[in-house]
Amino acid sequence: MAFWFNSDRERGRIFAEAFARDLPDLPFVMDTAECDPDDIRYLLTWTAPPDLDRLKNLEIVFSIGAGVDQFRVETLPPRVKLVRMVEDGIVRMMQEYVALAVLALHRNLKAYMGQQSEGRWQALPVRQAAQRRIGVLGLGVLGQALIDRLMPFGFPISGWSRSRREINGVTCYHGTESLTAFLGETDILVCLLPLTEETRGILDAGLFSALPIGAALVHVGRGAQLDHEALIHALDMHQLSGAVIDVTEPEPLPPEHPFWRHPRIMLTPHIASVTQPDTAARAVIENVKRHRAGLDPIGLVDRGRGY
Ligand code: NAP
Ligand code: GLV
Repeated sequence: MAFWFNSDRERGRIFAEAFARDLPDLPFVMDTAECDPDDIRYLLTWTAPPDLDRLKNLEIVFSIGAGVDQFRVETLPPRVKLVRMVEDGIVRMMQEYVALAVLALHRNLKAYMGQQSEGRWQALPVRQAAQRRIGVLGLGVLGQALIDRLMPFGFPISGWSRSRREINGVTCYHGTESLTAFLGETDILVCLLPLTEETRGILDAGLFSALPIGAALVHVGRGAQLDHEALIHALDMHQLSGAVIDVTEPEPLPPEHPFWRHPRIMLTPHIASVTQPDTAARAVIENVKRHRAGLDPIGLVDRGRGY
């Protein structure tokens, strides 16, 4: 039996130490040449390696990230479980980023930065947090965690998911038929949906027009969920007042792309949240132990749903 770590060696050293300490009976390799491929039961990777088929006894593929859209699930052998990353480091970073983005939009940070560059000293109208409604698309691990972080500011919060959810202090909507009602009550929309066939292109002109005039967007899901032209149009028509964009399709954007220089867009290079090796190693070790005990790993992907 062996665990194959297929990522960068610096992170790998931190994982290797944790495995040696907490799972000493499971050989940990960073190169398949170090073991018989038939021994590999577990693989941690960002995408499926091209020669996956030769790992005849593979049982679990662990995604290095929370998202799993970069795997084509249908190409993994049916016996192999796909597990997304659920770990404290990703959660904390996403809480920080979305709090930063929501507060930047709420307090007009981009406009003040523009004023600073023009040498202008001018206060803009302020809205109280209680008058700024936050709507979160996706009420999973990350969506719920960022709601916990935003709640103390006093924003009214609602959320949208596929199945019914009940979260204290949050107005919960679910299913396609409730999306328009949810959007109609959202001043800052945060997208934290996984990329699936249902969510591809979901942030489009129709969705933007269902938001109140002057609403804003924080996009931290996946690039292919956002229609770039529709966003630029909505901003230029003042349907939307601003956007914080962390994920795009493609990544990086070409130099001439309008997002780089748009006065109401804040753009970051897919850094909202990054897997942290120490906490991720703990989460993966815990999942190997669960699997060995006959339990489902935490973060097991439902192949039918695609997340
Ligand atoms: P998760 O726990 O699986 O939660 C996904 C949520 O989305 C669930 O609430 C789910 O509904 C909802 N959902 C999925 N499809 C839907 C649909 N068609 N209609 C309505 N709701 C739908 O995932 P997570 O760990 O929170 O991560 C979410 C995503 O964040 C990842 O997939 C990844 O793409 C993105 N991400 C981005 C970064 C970054 O740095 N930008 C970092 C990490 C993750 P149910 O509750 O009904 O299942
Ligand atoms: C990053 O985008 C992740 O999916 O963890």
